This record gives sequence, structure tokens and C-alpha cells, in this order.
Amino acid sequence: MYVNGNFSKLSKNYLFTEIAARIKRYETQTGKKALRLSVGDVVYPLPSVVVQAMIRAAKEMGKASTFRGYGEERGYAFLRQAVAADYERRGVFVDADDVFISDGAKSDCGNLTELFSEKNTVLLPDPVYPVYFDSSVLSGKKTAFFRADEKTGYLPMPNEKTRADVIYLCSPNNPTGAAYSREQLAQWVAYANGRGAVILYDASYAAFIDEAQAREGIARSIYEIEGAKSCAIEISSFSKSAGFTGVRCAYSIVPSALKRNGVSLKEAWARRQATKFNGVSYVTQRAAEAALSAEGRDKNAEIVKKYMGNARILKDTLRRNGCTCTGGEFAPYIWCKRPFGKSDDEFFDGLLYGAGIACTPGYGFGKGGAGYFRFSAFCFEEAAKEAAVLIDAFFKKHAVESQRL
Ligand code: MLT
Repeated sequence: MYVNGNFSKLSKNYLFTEIAARIKRYETQTGKKALRLSVGDVVYPLPSVVVQAMIRAAKEMGKASTFRGYGEERGYAFLRQAVAADYERRGVFVDADDVFISDGAKSDCGNLTELFSEKNTVLLPDPVYPVYFDSSVLSGKKTAFFRADEKTGYLPMPNEKTRADVIYLCSPNNPTGAAYSREQLAQWVAYANGRGAVILYDASYAAFIDEAQAREGIARSIYEIEGAKSCAIEISSFSKSAGFTGVRCAYSIVPSALKRNGVSLKEAWARRQATKFNGVSYVTQRAAEAALSAEGRDKNAEIVKKYMGNARILKDTLRRNGCTCTGGEFAPYIWCKRPFGKSDDEFFDGLLYGAGIACTPGYGFGKGGAGYFRFSAFCFEEAAKEAAVLIDAFFKKHAVESQRL
């Protein structure tokens, strides 16, 4: 018997499991509660229209006449159509039949690697959401990296040397908050179509791009680009846009036009899902449908604004304390150069034990993230304001102490 040897190529713990353990250790040792600006987990409760939809659906499940057993593996038509209608409102045509409902963008980002042979090279931005790397490695793929650093504006572009079969793009980006323009994405689409590569486009944070930014050319979907349906799968989620991190619902769009070596990736994905997945619960899908209703959209848009307001508070605070940071414009993540400390871990501990604030150390998102840390603005406004006071005091104390040395 042989265990999948690829596990040995991963760090011992998944990034956010490790951070949670360190926060727990701090809280146990000090008896204090950390202010969590680490994992991007939502805090605002679900809008009433969503909760009411869940209650109605749960009641249907309690009556013989409306009870439902297995649903369609790819999701109920009512939700797939609601997703397609949501794209249509943004001027993008998506066929409801190409939409596959799932329990999370994380699962899809990992599972979609099963579509591709081990012979492929997967190109990953560095730094980026660690799930792409971990899943590619676990499924035995070769990985290559392109730097998403200050020099590339955190948005790397293909060039004549780029060699990739599968490319993960995350826009707005986790962790840097940078977002591709339509013009930039058009270059990626041309590259992928020209080479026969496939783009896995993670648009989980698209709802944080506002109307004005979209008008100015920032893309909310890769399908805004002509030709994208023959080279890209788009993954998106209700987690961050509708407060569903605990409810669990997302989707991937695998267009009918996407074929490689005569194989329809849509048919392959449908086959994979039918074998390994029994769909998302009816109650959850009704909740997601309600999140896409006019009322659901309005209420969630208010919450999105609150998170972006928190991002402004945190970014302003870091900047007035002399930090170099980016992000907070298209996603509620602030990506900041580590201002002091010999390592990301030393800074993480310093901030946690010195100010009671948990961040995410940059190296957790890849080698290219070393020397940075990320703040998540998925918190209540009061927490962002409290963090601002604590950060000011932390930097003041550090300045005094370093003068003494
Ligand atoms: C993050 O903090 O990067 C995200 O919450 C992780 C996730 O969405 O799985």
C-alpha cells in the first residue's frame, strides 16, 4: 500500500489551520481575545430575505408533498438560471446550462484539477490563495510560478517565455487585492486560446468591484472578454459576496465551447460531479437564489460597502504609520510590506502579542509573499476602528523602543 506521496510536498498544515492554532495558543496563554484580521471570514448576519427563503425551504422539506430527495448534481435549474440572470444584469451572457452549483469555490478550485492530465504544467501567480498550489501538487501536476509583485503591479501578464497548460488567475486577487482590467485579461485569453491552455479564473471577490470601477475597465468576469468561453472556466462563490462562508454555496461555469483534444470539458466536469458529488442542499440553493433577488442584492451590496469601508480604515492606518501597502480597492484585503521584524513569523507574533491583532504572514501565500503581511477587512466596523487605535499604539511603541536601541 502506498500513500499519496505528494502530501510530503506540502507544508504540514494548511495556512489558515496553522494561523487558527497560533491564535488559539495566544488566547490560551494570555486569556485575551485576539482581534482577527487574518482569515477572510464574513461577520455580518444573513439578510432577512435569505433567512426567510431558508425557512420556507426547510418547511417544504418537512411536508410529504414538497419534500425533495437527491437534487441534480449540477444544481437546481432555478439557481443556475438566477446565476445566469445575475451575469446578464452585468451585460455578460452565460448559459444556465453551463453553470455547476457547488459547496464552495475552494472545493471547485481544487477539484477542477481532475480535468487535466498529470503531464500538464500548472502556472500559479506567486503570491496567491494557497489552495491552487496545494491542489495542483496533490493531484501530481507540475507547477510553475509567475511573480505577482510590485514590479508587475501584482498582476503578472504572459510573455513569449510563458509556458503553461493550466493557469490559475484570481481577480480581484487574494491576497493582494489587485484586479485585472479587461484589456489585460484580453491578453491572457489570447495567450490561452493561442496555446490551447485553460484558464481557471477565480472571481470569488468580483462583487467588491463597484460600478464606477467596472465602467473604468476593471473586469468582473473573464467572459467580458471575447473568446474567453473557448479557454476559461470561471469559479465564483456566495461566501464573500453574500455572507455564505458558513452556509456553503458557489458555482463554476464550464462553457460548452471549451474543448481540448476533442474532449468537452463541460461534459467531463458533469461526469466527474455526477460520480463524486450529490449537489448542494435544497435549503442552501433556495438561500442562494434569495441572495440574488433584488432585495438580496441590495442588502448584500450594503454589507460589501461596509467591508470596503473597513479596508479604507485599515489601509489609512497602516499608511499613516509609514507602511507601504496596496489593496483595499477591489477586495477587502490589504497587502502590506512588513515594516520590521526579521521574519514574517516574528512580525506576526509581534503584532499578536504586542497589539492583540492577528494578520496573515505573507509567505503563507507563496515564496513571493515573504516580507509582506495581509489584513482582512472582513470584520465589523467597530473592530476596524479598534484595530486602528491598537495599530497606532503598536507602531508608536515600536518607534520609541527602536530609538532606545
Ligand atoms: C482567505 O482568508 O484567504 C480566505 O478566507 C480563505 C478562503 O476563502 O478559503
